[in-house]
Amino acid sequence: MCGIVAYVGKKPCQSLLLEGLKRLEYRGYDSAGIAVIQDGALRLCKAVGRVSNLEDKLESIGNFSGTIGLCHTRWATHGGVTEANAHPHTDDRNGIAVIHNGIIENYAALKTYLQEKGHVFKSQTDTEVLAMLIGELYEGDLEKAVQAALREVTGAYAIAVMCEREPGTLVVARKGSPLIVGIGADEFIIASDASAIVAHTARAITLEDYNVVRLTAEGFRTSTIHDVPVTPRIEQLELELQEIELSGHSHFMQKEIHEQPKALRNCFRGRLDAKDGRVILGGLADHGKQLTNLRRVVLTAQGTALHAAMIGEYMIEDLAKIPSIAEYASEFRYRNPIIEDGTVVVAVSQSGETADTLAALQEARERGALSLGVINVVGSSISRNTDAGVYLRVGPEIGVASTKAFTGQVAVLAMVTLFLARRRFMSADQCADLIRALETVPDKIEAILAQNDRIRRVTEKYVERDNWLFLGRGYNYPTALEGALKLKEISYIHAEGMPAAEMKHGPIALINEGMPAVFLANRGRQYEKVMSNIQEVRARGGHVIAVATEGDEEIRRYAQDVLYVPDIPECLSPMLTVVPLQLMAYHAAVLRGHDVDKPRNLAKSVTVE
Ligand code: F6R
Repeated sequence: MCGIVAYVGKKPCQSLLLEGLKRLEYRGYDSAGIAVIQDGALRLCKAVGRVSNLEDKLESIGNFSGTIGLCHTRWATHGGVTEANAHPHTDDRNGIAVIHNGIIENYAALKTYLQEKGHVFKSQTDTEVLAMLIGELYEGDLEKAVQAALREVTGAYAIAVMCEREPGTLVVARKGSPLIVGIGADEFIIASDASAIVAHTARAITLEDYNVVRLTAEGFRTSTIHDVPVTPRIEQLELELQEIELSGHSHFMQKEIHEQPKALRNCFRGRLDAKDGRVILGGLADHGKQLTNLRRVVLTAQGTALHAAMIGEYMIEDLAKIPSIAEYASEFRYRNPIIEDGTVVVAVSQSGETADTLAALQEARERGALSLGVINVVGSSISRNTDAGVYLRVGPEIGVASTKAFTGQVAVLAMVTLFLARRRFMSADQCADLIRALETVPDKIEAILAQNDRIRRVTEKYVERDNWLFLGRGYNYPTALEGALKLKEISYIHAEGMPAAEMKHGPIALINEGMPAVFLANRGRQYEKVMSNIQEVRARGGHVIAVATEGDEEIRRYAQDVLYVPDIPECLSPMLTVVPLQLMAYHAAVLRGHDVDKPRNLAKSVTVE
């Protein structure tokens, strides 16, 4: 969602700030703004739309030359997409400028209080309320004013603040939203995401919730909002610059689809031991006894991560024989869930910052559940709020439509399943067989990727159609949901995914001449039933695109188009069957002329409820 970049140092900072902001464009936004203190005065520029609009505007008013500044990309929450609502926001007395990610929940009450004190607001945002509050509490010390203001607010924030009256001082703070302070030579680069920092430095302070940092070109001081000094945790950022560049690809989504073999090899490295029939997951080792005695698994997530969690649910029940359920985090957290002894809650999330998933996890922990994370971003909020976990290790995912994180999540959940299953009923031999099958996944994905041109040609045939169905059963019912989600989010084609059997209970009414219906028809326990469902669609004029197992010639009699995937045990098949669906969605979006990496209205990491 929103992106933050700030700088204090000895160099003119406008180009560094804008370059950082461009690195954050993938997160999704609808307006952008920048503020710099130049010759002791605050200069501000905002624009609706892309960062390039902001650059054009700066060009026309004269570029800024100060050595301290902040900039922001906004994804609208409170108030529409207007320049007035774009960040930075300022107070009305002291030349204070604020950028903010997150939501100030008690902003309405604070706004009334500030209006009664005579402050006049120009925007509808919660952030302007925070800027005014800091201004109201300012008595010549910005750090103290920020601490005092943050003691008054509830909600989530990552903020950067500066003030005309202290032109060399930047104050940043976080609670519940990510913020990283990069340490350079005589300079600090602050951002909500490491990708805006790594071009300048790999040394960074990782802040805890309620930490406040006061920064000048000469040094920094870390404290809490109650002004208790904090010893900062300085870490090396692991991100490499080439991981966040396109490296010859047209889009990050395309790059990430094609990176899946490599990403999964990395995910499996050092974790699979086929010889002894065991999976080695260091992150779970300390909880072996609790995990052996588990009675129930609740997997919780949103979007694509929920689809992976659903596959985890099927695997854990089927192979580890533990009752399991996958649930939207947004529903789980508010429905007063029952958490009995022996329950583990598994939060599945690429970013590790999804607000609903984080809140669901906290709810479950408060009710006594053991919590595990299946997360990609190391050190993210969710990963820091779990008892244990397993990282995906698939590298940064920049494309808004999740691809390699999905296959990584399914891969990790497969390993967690085997880890649990071996502690219960699964023999070493059975486990070794599945491990050997898991090890073949990267090569098999490579074989599917080699069919890219054919998948594009099949997509071309149907790309003008505005309604699609995705149907699957068992392990590939969640894959059908994922195929539909991928198509709709980047190509804006209406698509529905569902269990193939459900079609007859209503959606079959939608089928008309030529409507594309994508069937996950690979070999498995319900293969014959899927064949019957295919015939029901054909009988009503629908066009069937079947994802089938290599060697299945029979299916050509039923489907107009067949996309083959290599054979693999059914429980692992979603990691293969999803790949043609990812490629179809990608090609459909490109063929329709959409900006694949910046789909309308979407944000990469949904940090508000
Ligand atoms: C879809 C997509 C989203 C995310 C969802 C959860 O392509 O990316 O549906 O899967 O917003 O995000 P994370 O995994 O970061 O919790």
